[in-house]
Amino acid sequence: MNSDKKVNLTQNFRDKIVPKSQYLKKKIPGVKKIVAISSAKGGVGKSTICANLAVASSKKNLSIGLLDADIYGPSIPDLFGAFEKPTADENKKLNPIIRQNIKLISMGFLIDKDSPMVWRGPMVISAIKSFLNNVNWGELDCLFVDLPPGTGDAILTFAQELDVSSSIIITTPQKLSITDANRGIEMFRKTNIPVLGILENMSYILDQNKNKSYPFGKDGANKLCKNQNVNLLDKIRIDQTFDLCTNNGIVYEDLAEDIKIQFNNISEKIIS
Ligand SMILES: Nc1ncnc2c1ncn2[C@@H]1O[C@H](COP(=O)(O)OP(=O)(O)OP(=O)(O)O)[C@@H](O)[C@H]1O
Ligand SMILES: [Mg+2]
Repeated sequence: MNSDKKVNLTQNFRDKIVPKSQYLKKKIPGVKKIVAISSAKGGVGKSTICANLAVASSKKNLSIGLLDADIYGPSIPDLFGAFEKPTADENKKLNPIIRQNIKLISMGFLIDKDSPMVWRGPMVISAIKSFLNNVNWGELDCLFVDLPPGTGDAILTFAQELDVSSSIIITTPQKLSITDANRGIEMFRKTNIPVLGILENMSYILDQNKNKSYPFGKDGANKLCKNQNVNLLDKIRIDQTFDLCTNNGIVYEDLAEDIKIQFNNISEKIIS
């Protein structure tokens, strides 16, 4: 590729992600705060962390919602063991499904569990918009949004059009995840969404003698945070109690006690 083409590509990318100055970012009436949980890389624990932060926050007597914006791969129904279809009110607004005191909306509630989503980008974007505007969220102290992986169209629309209070980026310590997380930070910066911090997930394993081992490498997120001048919120270890919770369809309750404390502390930072 010659250098002219490179310049054009960069310019195109910039045009695509820089918010239009005339664009007014929308609020959701009654929702005090919107917190986006994202990772540019897939499978790093975004949905798991998002669900646990939502539950930890709701335990502080706050009114919490969770929007599963991962239209192609919704995980919130499995995490909360919620599979019923939402009802609609007389204005055709969807009533969220309530689990563990959290108002939940997910594409997974609306489609058959085994059917693949074969929608193109614009349909996904309109589904997300509809989840924001046509759901009875009521009064919420905080709406957590579990974003799909990547920095694609749906996320971009979301970041450009909605008044998101802050974002948290989930990464594992591995180089490939850190590289993508770096892109995620840049995207939020360019769409003027504050990055509250990085949460390193699957950071290490604790053996029976409380010794740590680092199968995915050490200090990946430390370096990223230093280079990008963002906060490292915490490091969550690999632990089988996450699996236990998912298998029970109940978030948080069966987690190891020290991990619960971590989620409590992080949620404190989010909602304060
Ligand atoms: N700290 C952890 N320890 C053990 N297992 C974990 C941990 N974090 C997440 N997992 C497991 O890893 C798998 C992937 O997690 P999850 O679905 O939350 O990732 P994701 O980033 O949302 O994925 P996707 O990009 O597909 O949406 C799940 O089976 C989850 O239970
Ligand atoms: Mg997910």
